[in-house]
Amino acid sequence: MTYYFDYGATSLKKPEAVAKKVYEILSSGEYANPSRGSYKEANNAFIEIYKTRKLVADFFGISDEKRVIFTNNATEALNIAIKGVIEQGDHIITTKMEHNSVLRPIYQLAEKENIEFSIVDSDKYGVVLYDDIEKHIKSNTKLLAITQASNLTGNIVDLKKIATICQKNNILLLVDGSQAAGVIDTKVEKLGIDLYCFTGHKSLFAPQGVGGLCIGNPNLIVKSYNVGGSGIKTFEKNQPQIYPEMLEAGTHNTPSIAGLAEGIKYILDKGIDNLYNKQLSFANKFYNSLKDVSIIEFYGNFNEPKTATVALNFKGVLSSDAAEELFEKYNIAIRAGAHCAPLMHKHFGTVEQGIVRFSFSSMTTEEEVDYAIESIKKIASELN
Ligand SMILES: Cc1ncc(COP(=O)(O)O)c(C=O)c1O
Repeated sequence: MTYYFDYGATSLKKPEAVAKKVYEILSSGEYANPSRGSYKEANNAFIEIYKTRKLVADFFGISDEKRVIFTNNATEALNIAIKGVIEQGDHIITTKMEHNSVLRPIYQLAEKENIEFSIVDSDKYGVVLYDDIEKHIKSNTKLLAITQASNLTGNIVDLKKIATICQKNNILLLVDGSQAAGVIDTKVEKLGIDLYCFTGHKSLFAPQGVGGLCIGNPNLIVKSYNVGGSGIKTFEKNQPQIYPEMLEAGTHNTPSIAGLAEGIKYILDKGIDNLYNKQLSFANKFYNSLKDVSIIEFYGNFNEPKTATVALNFKGVLSSDAAEELFEKYNIAIRAGAHCAPLMHKHFGTVEQGIVRFSFSSMTTEEEVDYAIESIKKIASELN
C-alpha cells in the first residue's frame, strides 16, 4: 500500500459519486456531443454541462453562469485570463509565490511583446509582502496576478487585502485558486476578484482534464484564446463574442465536467469548512509532532492561515534522495524538487536541494498521518 501525501498535486482518492458519474457518462450510451444536437443524447450531454456551469457559478459566487468558462486545467485558464486582458504597453504585477502557470505566460508576453512585469517580494516565511505591492504600481499597471495559496508552503494569501489594493488603484485582480478551490470558501464577485482560475482534479475531486475561469467582473472582456467550433453563429468568421462560447472552442470534456459537479456536490454535502478543518488537523498534527526534530527544517508560516501542506527538508539531504528513501523504504509518496515554483525556491535557497512537500486531504486517515510521523522520526534518527 502507498501512503499518499501528494494531494497538492492531485487528489488520489475521489468520492465514489465522481467515479460513478464518469462511468455512467461513458457506459450508458446516453451522452453524445454536447454541442447542441437536436437529439436526446446530445441534449443530455449539453444539460450536464449547463448544470455543472450553474453549480460552479453558485459555488464560487458568480451571478451569471455564462461567466464560468470550462478549460482543461488551471494552466489553460491562467493562460486565457492573462493573455486575454493584457495589451501592448501594459504592466503586470505578480509575486514570488507563483506557480509557473502564472509566471511563464507573463514571461512569454514580456519576451515577445511590449509588456513589463514586476515581482513582489516575500518575507522569510514566503508570505507576500503586502505593503510592497503599491510600490510596484505604475501608470500602466493593468493586472495583479496572485495565487490564493502557495503550492509549496501552503501559505494562504489575504485576498481581501489584495482586492482593496487593486480597487483603490484601478487594477484588475487575477487569482490562481488551484490550491484553494474546494478548500477555502471563495465568493469571487463578493471579494472583488476579476478573474479566478481553478483546476478540478485537486481539492474539487474532479477527474483530471477539467478546470475553469470564473470572470467575476461582468464588464470585463477577455479576448478569445482558442477559436473554432462553438455550436452557435457558425457562419461568422470570428468566434462569437459572448461568454462562454467566446472562450470555449471545440468539444467539451463531458465526463470530467460531469465528474466535477459530483465533486462539488460532495464538498457541499460534507461542508467545505469541515473538510478544511479535517485536513488542517492532519497537517498540524504532522507539523507539531516534528517541529522539534533538530535535523528537520520547515518552510512557511505556521502561525498564519495555511492549507494542509507542509514543506520541509532534512538538513543537508537532497529532497530527491529523501523522496526516494520515503518511497522505497516506507511506501510514502510525497513531492520533492521544485514544484513548478522557481521564485519561491530561489527565495528559500533551495534551488539545488529542492523541498520535501507533504500535502494532506480530508481523505487522508489518522493512521496514515501517524505512520508518516513515525517514518520521518526514524529517518531523522538514522541521519543523526
Ligand atoms: C498554485 C498552482 N497553480 C497552478 C497549477 C496548475 O494546475 P494544473 O496542472 O491543473 O493546470 C498548480 C498545480 O500544481 C498549482 O499548484
